[in-house]
Amino acid sequence: MNNLSQKIERAFEFAAKQLRHLIETHPDYFPMYTQNGKWKHSGEAWTNWCEGFLGGQLWLLYERTRENYWRTKAEHYSRLIEHRKTDRTVHDLGFLFWPTYKRWFDLTGDATIQQVVIQAGQTMGWRFKERGQYFCSFVADDSVFIDIMMNVGIVFYAAQQTNDADLYRKAFQHCLTTRKYLVRGDGSTAHEGIFDVNTGEFLRQTTHQGYRGDSSWARGLTWALYGFGTAYTFTRDARFLQTAEACANFYIERTPAHGVPPNDWDEPNPALPYESSAAAIAASGMLNLAQLTSDTARARLYRDYGLNILNTLTEPEFLAIETPGWEGILKHACYHQRKGLGVNESVMWGDYFFLEALSKAPAH
Ligand code: GLY
Repeated sequence: MNNLSQKIERAFEFAAKQLRHLIETHPDYFPMYTQNGKWKHSGEAWTNWCEGFLGGQLWLLYERTRENYWRTKAEHYSRLIEHRKTDRTVHDLGFLFWPTYKRWFDLTGDATIQQVVIQAGQTMGWRFKERGQYFCSFVADDSVFIDIMMNVGIVFYAAQQTNDADLYRKAFQHCLTTRKYLVRGDGSTAHEGIFDVNTGEFLRQTTHQGYRGDSSWARGLTWALYGFGTAYTFTRDARFLQTAEACANFYIERTPAHGVPPNDWDEPNPALPYESSAAAIAASGMLNLAQLTSDTARARLYRDYGLNILNTLTEPEFLAIETPGWEGILKHACYHQRKGLGVNESVMWGDYFFLEALSKAPAH
């Protein structure tokens, strides 16, 4: 076993300890970000999109250990969010149901579990705006977020499982619209696009969590990197793979050798050097791309870069293993810098995608 394999083993053991502490100390509580390293607080959520990442981590622990404790808890925390399958107020049903019910279905083949995933995908379909051809964000009908690329996979899935050509069309068009208006020629991405709801005309790029409308918010780019790869797996449309690779190449070009970007690559002298959740998403997305691209050299580049990120994130600078009292797994993430939410803290999705990426790392 080489050094990275040992670090991965140690990280999973640490994650199990942290998650057991969280669910035993605060039963049925769904945290989003820590404050001073603690999960339970009354800080603002901004939007409710994270409730699948706790169950998702519990499923990942079950998949790795096969211990009944994790299975029971994973099912319980999944059941607690089932009612969200008809939630039309957020654009995040992929984030809720792919890490939970989809993992559950893949393990069991239970059609009633699969039906929850399908219904969540169908619910997402209601967000489609014919004028503009996109799934609108939770903010307003005129808004599309780059983040929605992570929630389009569940729509493709629902469409394919039910042979719903119109739902498939909506998912496909959303990807084309996002690619056209939010992904730039250099592979960077905008966080948000604003449309004229009456004509469907695209108006401008803007942002909530990045530095400026024309800047490159790191997590948004990693949502695109990962999400366009997923769109390619469902459609086999080469444009989506090219877009995912363009985002990956931008990430590699603009990030220091350790593999962890700041919150926004274009922010002058960033106050904080790291946004570790973007790095975790990039690692997982690049390990996917390594399987998707048919070019051997690029496949090796993405695999090695994804493993390089994991090598960094498993160091005690990021893994909270040597930080007494810290309740999260990964330190140095950022939720919403402008609002001051979860800045330089642990975040639920960072911990989830970190574990997901670790579980995909090839054994050495
Ligand atoms: N709202 C999704 C994110 O913060 O990335």
